[in-house]
Amino acid sequence: MTEQTNEEEPLDPQRREFMAKAVSVFAGGAIVSIPVGAGVATLFSPLLGEGQGGVRIRLAAVEDLPADGSPKLYQVVAERSDAWTKYPAKPLGSVFLRKLEDGGVQAFNSSCPHAGCSVGFRARDEVFYCPCHESTFLLDGSRGEVCVSPRGLDSLEVDQEKLKEGEVWVTFQNFAAGIEDKKAI
Ligand code: FES
Repeated sequence: MTEQTNEEEPLDPQRREFMAKAVSVFAGGAIVSIPVGAGVATLFSPLLGEGQGGVRIRLAAVEDLPADGSPKLYQVVAERSDAWTKYPAKPLGSVFLRKLEDGGVQAFNSSCPHAGCSVGFRARDEVFYCPCHESTFLLDGSRGEVCVSPRGLDSLEVDQEKLKEGEVWVTFQNFAAGIEDKKAI
């Protein structure tokens, strides 16, 4: 369904514009996180939909992640093409990656499970923070002390075999907001 493309290839103008917008959104608030990476999935079928099981994508090398366990944000961008047309790159969302002490990597969809706003990371307090209704989430993604979200951040599957090779591959998926259950959409 999906294949990797090299994340280090030069950004085309459309993707550069998207990245610039993403940076400005985060830089405009009190949240210190800004996107620092991007993974590009090449799709040969329609974009994410129910029942497709998400998009498998390479986001980083393990060594790219901070050793102290603080999260790093990655944009997920999809390119789609068929036999005749290459469609413009389209952002699907973004993912926080975090290195664990045991060598594992945790991945969270950065979309707030309350109403879908973009969650940032407040390094000062070591919490994920959603500015829309001021919810906090702990480093492990669970609900913080102040949180109106019905569930913690949505974790994403990390490919354990690729991790052994030093690569972080994630199955990216969006989930329904506003409900207690984690329901893929
Ligand atoms: S959308 Fe995040 S707390 Fe409401």
